[in-house]
Amino acid sequence: MYVLGIDTSCDDTSAAIVKDGRQALCSVVHSQIKLHHPHGGVVPELASREHIRNILPVVQQSLKKANMDLNEINGLAVTVGPGLIGSLLVGLYYTKALSYAAGIPYVGVNHLEGHILSIFLEDSPPPFPFVCLTVSGGHTNLYHVLDFGQYRPLGRTLDDAAGEAFDKVAKLLGLGYPGGPVIDEMAKKGDPTKISFPRAYMSKNSLDFSFSGLKTAVALFVKKWRSQDKGITINDIVASFQESVIDVLVGKTMLAQEMTGCSHVCIAGGVACNSRLRQRFLEAAQQRGVTVMWPRPQYCTDNGAMIAVAGYHMLKKGQVAGYTIDVRSRFPIDELQSPSTSRD
Ligand code: KG4
Ligand code: ZN
Repeated sequence: MYVLGIDTSCDDTSAAIVKDGRQALCSVVHSQIKLHHPHGGVVPELASREHIRNILPVVQQSLKKANMDLNEINGLAVTVGPGLIGSLLVGLYYTKALSYAAGIPYVGVNHLEGHILSIFLEDSPPPFPFVCLTVSGGHTNLYHVLDFGQYRPLGRTLDDAAGEAFDKVAKLLGLGYPGGPVIDEMAKKGDPTKISFPRAYMSKNSLDFSFSGLKTAVALFVKKWRSQDKGITINDIVASFQESVIDVLVGKTMLAQEMTGCSHVCIAGGVACNSRLRQRFLEAAQQRGVTVMWPRPQYCTDNGAMIAVAGYHMLKKGQVAGYTIDVRSRFPIDELQSPSTSRD
């Protein structure tokens, strides 16, 4: 079965064709980074206008790259939430029109389910059950992944997402958007032990996260630092900030692994590209004798291929969406039995 997956949940317009929920034949992403960079974050109004401009060429390019014709596509999968309403609407209404005009069934996919299943685009995916940390600009969640379509939420952020913390710290230091990749590089030249920023572990055994206190602590520190620099470099600041985020992400994910007894741990989402995070996860996994894995960078950040994987498993179960479904800015994964999967 060939599924065309489409994601316009935030600032990237993406489409991909995936065979049998495993093999991506192409993955096209039109990035809007240049557009949002001067603003230090995504401007929703600009994002939706840019999606409208790019959705058709991106889908056409994905068919061309896969050397396929639209009539060879068996199903369509589109992100219906969570995300920016204006952005989501472009993807959903484009897909509805395509489905109607070409007579191809479609399903509405939860973006977080896409991130969780992105590891199935790789050669050796983990066996069920496994623990998955989805860590991106919009989300920081821990799941016990029992099977396709069966996700038990274990923890979530109570305020900012980890990627959001990277982006906000980058913004206050004037490093532009997105902050993650820049901080990742700069931190390599800094001392992560130079400043002791707070680590929000919350109550013992809590698997929830909180990063807004850390962001405020960095902002307060930077204010003082600007007036009385004591041999501390900007690289030391970002390295110390990054270490604080990573300590908590690794600590809580490994606690989830202990609590569930899973042998495999997955990390997904844009922040899973972070080099120091990967190194720390490898060390922690080795100590515990468990396996940690992540998808290649292009499947960590937002992409249509992961949406096609999730959509494939929905279509295989006979789920088909009707034409009256809507987008959802909030869409917790425990509400997966949503109208997006119903016929209407
Ligand atoms: O998954 P994604 O593309 O979009 C969302 O669903 O949010 O993730 C984007 C986020 C941004 O916050 C970006 O700063 C962060 O992922 N990111 C990174 C790295 N690459 C991207 N954070 C830390 N280190 C990186 N190397
Ligand atoms: Zn995402």
